[in-house]
Amino acid sequence: MNSSLFEDGPPSLLPKDLLGPGTAVLAGFALAAEEDLLSALKRVTEQSPFRNMVTPGGFRMSVAMSNCGELGWVTDHTGYRYDHIDPRTSKPWPEMPMEFKDLASSAAKEAGFAEFKPDACLINRYEPGSKLSLHQDKDERDYTQPIVSVSLGLPATFLFGGLKRTDTLQRIQVVHGDVLVWGGPARLRYHGIAPLRDGTHPRLGPVRYNLTFRKAG
Ligand code: SIN
Ligand code: FE2
Repeated sequence: MNSSLFEDGPPSLLPKDLLGPGTAVLAGFALAAEEDLLSALKRVTEQSPFRNMVTPGGFRMSVAMSNCGELGWVTDHTGYRYDHIDPRTSKPWPEMPMEFKDLASSAAKEAGFAEFKPDACLINRYEPGSKLSLHQDKDERDYTQPIVSVSLGLPATFLFGGLKRTDTLQRIQVVHGDVLVWGGPARLRYHGIAPLRDGTHPRLGPVRYNLTFRKAG
């Protein structure tokens, strides 16, 4: 065996620039912290439970959401915003667990964004059939900071477009433990999730969770 093969650590399973400049596909990056992440997720969503929010247009979202961190993303009939208070509990969102912060900043660093300190983590829960329409993440103040997105549970098809809604979509499969990062020239690229296929994840059941970290304030 040629040991020089491993001098830089094991090769990543997918090329970092698979989705273009400013992006990284970090396959399995969250697996080492799996247990800590899942128990932190349980703690957070016991305090601020999942709920299906309503869009400004009056539609109930098929993805159930919660948040942790200083700021949480909410939508209701008045529009989209970040808020310090969970409108369901009327209390501040749960603190962002250290395990979440560490994972998000190490993934960002791996993707070339040093010193990422998220203040918002949107937590999405998908059931088979749930989807997230194509959108840009643009309710944050600071577009110099990337988005870090962690997939847990059932696999999903992540749709990654361009800076215009009509740009061609790339479709990639994301599975339990995968982390995507997009920032810099990719920060405002459209993205979404195709309707989740039926299935049962051996650990988490018929559900996919996604943690999306941002610097919102
Ligand atoms: C999002 O864009 O907010 C979530 C994407 C995902 O669920 O992977
Ligand atoms: Fe998004």
